Amino acid sequence: MAHYRMSVLEEKGYVVLSRDGTVIDPREWQDLEYVDWKSSGDTRFAPLASAYGGIDCNAFWHFDPPKPDRDGVWIPSQVAVAPTIAGLAQESGANVGRVRIIELQPNTYADALYNSHLDDNNRLTRDGDGWVVRGFRNLTDDAGSFLVLREDVRDPATETRIPLPAGARVIVDSERMWHSVWHPGPLPRYCLITSYESGPELEKWIFENDPTTYVDVAVLDEGFASAMEAEAQDRRAKRTAFYGYDPTNVMSEA
Ligand SMILES: [Fe+2]
Repeated sequence: MAHYRMSVLEEKGYVVLSRDGTVIDPREWQDLEYVDWKSSGDTRFAPLASAYGGIDCNAFWHFDPPKPDRDGVWIPSQVAVAPTIAGLAQESGANVGRVRIIELQPNTYADALYNSHLDDNNRLTRDGDGWVVRGFRNLTDDAGSFLVLREDVRDPATETRIPLPAGARVIVDSERMWHSVWHPGPLPRYCLITSYESGPELEKWIFENDPTTYVDVAVLDEGFASAMEAEAQDRRAKRTAFYGYDPTNVMSEA
């Protein structure tokens, strides 16, 4: 099928934007209604836009009628609590599908590697519509935490770690790039995650916000990295043995 894809994501599958300086009252994410929804660790989600406006985090194809991950319906009670965050999700002018806040409890690097997965963003994307990608905008100030991206989940050489201070923004083809977050804590991390339709509007907004694929981040201690890698791959192998298949090869609905 032919979908509009943005050339800016072609090389690396992600692009980092400049930090967004919008000041947001923490109550905007603290006072939302959250639902338990496990994705990449100990998480809860607060939807701002869902398939048909319910407080629901399910993928849009689960609904009747099923729909592609676009034309998300804003949830008035949630938008009333988080108007600034809802505004950020609409800033680009691109069509958006699922819009949610994720709450992630502290974890280890090995946990992040263990939980790395691909998203299922385009199951119902229609011919001619833009390829759905994800935007991550960190809400809490987690400069010591990282969005961990890999082109190949089994190959540490393909890894990019993107620091997550408040206002950090990354656009990711999360159906191509394995991803998870390493969040040492101690407090939970909150992040806005938006499903965007690729298209001229999104592309224009990306280019207005200083896109780069260069990330200046310290190299991990070799002993630490290999110990964490071994732990994660061992846990992944045990999970695969338990299920009889690797569940992370079945793209995540979250
Ligand atoms: Fe994901």
